[in-house]
Amino acid sequence: MDGVLDGADAKHHDNLGDIFMKGLRLLGAGALLLAGGVAYADPCKITIDSNDMMQFSAHELTVPSACTDVEVTLRHSGKLPAKVMGHDWVLAKDSDVSGIVNAGLAAGASHGYLPENDKRIIAATKVVGGGESTTVKFSIAALTQGARYVFFCTSPGHSSVMRGQFLFGGTRVAQAGK
Ligand code: CO
Repeated sequence: MDGVLDGADAKHHDNLGDIFMKGLRLLGAGALLLAGGVAYADPCKITIDSNDMMQFSAHELTVPSACTDVEVTLRHSGKLPAKVMGHDWVLAKDSDVSGIVNAGLAAGASHGYLPENDKRIIAATKVVGGGESTTVKFSIAALTQGARYVFFCTSPGHSSVMRGQFLFGGTRVAQAGK
């Protein structure tokens, strides 16, 4: 009887040992991934995806306040052409979004639904269709800590769903409103 129990006990320990080793291996893989992210990803360069379902892949983008220039790449992973499901990526103050969208509608398709020389626009990409991508680079010197910035798409009807918050400086933005 004792022998059976000892055997079961020993097996139990073996299983725990296995689980422990698997855990270590998983931790090891995670640490490698993290190290890779820190070593190779430039936090001042952001890529955001868009698709045929009128969606951006992120509702919030964050860049460190230490960035001088920010580079945003907009990809369109869908199949529909720009005429049907074109997207752009535009950055502005929250309070300016509807004004820019309306001015964009007035400007029309030939201008990519984007008003020309509009001072309210901080940054804007060109319009892309399925399979295309485009990049815009801008300085965050133009941004004020604590103000609310929004990125959005100016294609007709898109900005109600294709929009998100653009944060820079992380916690410093939250603390700026003291
Ligand atoms: Co769009």
